[in-house]
Amino acid sequence: MSAHKGSLTVPIQASIDRTIDDLMVSLPDPDRLLPDERRGLIARYAAVLEGNFIYWMTAARLAVASDEAKAIIEDNLREEVRDNHPGMLRRFALAAHAAPTDSDALAVYRNLENVRLFVARLSAVKIVLMMAFFEGFITRFMPYLADLAARQGSAEREYTDVHGVVDIVHTEGLFRALEAEMMLLRPDVPEPTTSLFTGVETLQALIQNVIHPHGALVADGAESTAAAA
Ligand SMILES: [Fe+2]
Repeated sequence: MSAHKGSLTVPIQASIDRTIDDLMVSLPDPDRLLPDERRGLIARYAAVLEGNFIYWMTAARLAVASDEAKAIIEDNLREEVRDNHPGMLRRFALAAHAAPTDSDALAVYRNLENVRLFVARLSAVKIVLMMAFFEGFITRFMPYLADLAARQGSAEREYTDVHGVVDIVHTEGLFRALEAEMMLLRPDVPEPTTSLFTGVETLQALIQNVIHPHGALVADGAESTAAAA
């Protein structure tokens, strides 16, 4: 085996970083958000994360075959469950007066369903890559989310403090899991590089939908999810 550690995933990680950069640049200026837009952004984030993160990480665990990936993902799941991260997020949303309503759930429904349909295919490499992207985005997004909550009059910081730190470690772990799974792919039947990103793109559309509920223009001028999906 000539590939040295990390060599398979370095260009993939760079691409994920660019995708996260694009999402961060597309975030609306908090000074220009109306109170209900600010509340809605927190609420849609909570609607997507609270009930789905552990489920999608569980799907990644079911999909992978390597012992290394299994161990990394199980550690991640153990922490989510043991430290009650869904409860932590719910407290964060409640303190910001931004618990998701029916219409918040409806605003992300179609893009959320698309991610569920992707996850249902249990494609190991693609799901692990999607979750590495998810963890990486969450880490970068925490200061913005904390700022919105503060503007909502909330002093609750546990969720954003914990996820600004732990998810750096989780992202690194998931790229090691990705590497381990990619090593299992038969080298004579290479996976087309573009299709590796199916899950990332589906989740990217959902996150754009969290940020821009009505498909507002994103930073590069491309139309975002609600119009394109
Ligand atoms: Fe978490």
